[in-house]
Amino acid sequence: QTGLFTYDPGFTSTAACDSAITYIDGDKGELLYRGYPIDQLADNSSYIEVCYLLLYGELPSKADLRDFENRVTRHTMVHEQMHYFYRGFRRDAHPMAIVTGVVGAMAAFYHDSTDISDPEQREIASIRMIAKLPTIVAMAYKYSVGQPFVYPRNDLDYASNFLHMCFAVPAEEYKVDPVVARAMDRIFTLHADHEQNASTSTVRLSGSSDANPFACIAAGVACLWGPAHGGANEAALNMLRQIGTVDRIPEFIARAKDKNDPFRLMGFGHRVYKNYDPRAAVMQESAREVLDLLGVENNPTLQVAQELEKIALEDPYFVERKLYPNVDFYSGIILDAIGFPTSMFTAIFALSRTVGWIAQWKEMIGDPQKKIGRPRQLYNGATKRDYVDISAR
Ligand code: SDX
Repeated sequence: QTGLFTYDPGFTSTAACDSAITYIDGDKGELLYRGYPIDQLADNSSYIEVCYLLLYGELPSKADLRDFENRVTRHTMVHEQMHYFYRGFRRDAHPMAIVTGVVGAMAAFYHDSTDISDPEQREIASIRMIAKLPTIVAMAYKYSVGQPFVYPRNDLDYASNFLHMCFAVPAEEYKVDPVVARAMDRIFTLHADHEQNASTSTVRLSGSSDANPFACIAAGVACLWGPAHGGANEAALNMLRQIGTVDRIPEFIARAKDKNDPFRLMGFGHRVYKNYDPRAAVMQESAREVLDLLGVENNPTLQVAQELEKIALEDPYFVERKLYPNVDFYSGIILDAIGFPTSMFTAIFALSRTVGWIAQWKEMIGDPQKKIGRPRQLYNGATKRDYVDISAR
């Protein structure tokens, strides 16, 4: 039934809800957004068009897309008082700590979009979050590097605006390279939604109590931060750097197999994909394009990544366990080449996934039958017993 968790001692995945948004076939390595294959969307669409598709279920007409893009563009600025939040953080605060806090604080500002019984207010809350996450994430980056915040610009597309807010400085004009903007836009699209992953389930569960929509998305941001989930892109690049050179790969492959060693190959394996993650294939292509453009095609990190992938895909340990590169394996290489520090990688993932969280939240809120009920448990603790006074213990 919809919304019922069933306990499975084998811990194999069980249906948490029904949904019409994203379909994954883990064995085939297939991912569809509202029926459209992810590689076709990455090659032919744009993130703002994919946002429309995920939210409303169909690809937009030209007029609808223009209207949707205008609505998002007109909400990209944050309330001026939100700037003061950043000054309360330490400069070395992790961007995900800042984004979790500031997204939650949106609930303190936008009172005209929190009555979730009103479809209009649900819509404006959704548009505001899609529009403002790039600004909030870019401000977290600027604050961490001690540079002034850069305001959003209405003449730039979604990805270019984000890059401009991150890398422009008052001292000189910053021109967004179209190839870099395209790679950024594809990264947003590839991360936009992914069925009932941990952070999406967190948003659904939070939303099932009719909680404030901004607070529900902040809960999703917090869950995504974990290195087993969205934090894997930061961990994957740090791992590739730790390996450093191709000749050290066997040492780390051995560690990944050693049950006494907690080391895992970050960016490998997936709860659902037991085949190649289709997003990783698109990401690898983007990585080559961006590195060629930036003249770093002999980037040692990419060389280690490609050699590690080749070795792992031939190694029986990984083949038997169906451990393939996932979306996080290559994304860090692109973000690093563009100029982001590893600490920003998961915040960019959160920015991308906001539309997926919102689409899933709207789908649930709009149909009470889809609300996740209150999950139960199988109790395996102490049987009933009487209290023992401390004098007798
Ligand atoms: C994301 O759910 C989503 O959709 C998430 C996501 C999204 O878009 O929202 O796709 C984003 O979170 C991608 C995953 C990012 N995480 C990582 O890359 C971290 C490294 N990966 C592992 O922690 C692990 O692969 C998981 C948690 C991602 C998946 O775990 P599984 O598939 O359930 O595998 P498991 O933990 O049950 O392990 C099965 C076997 C074990 O060995 P045996 O006990 O059988 O001997 O495979 C081994 C594990 O030790 N194994 C690994 C490994 N992952 C699993 N060994 C080495 N390196 C790894 N990465």
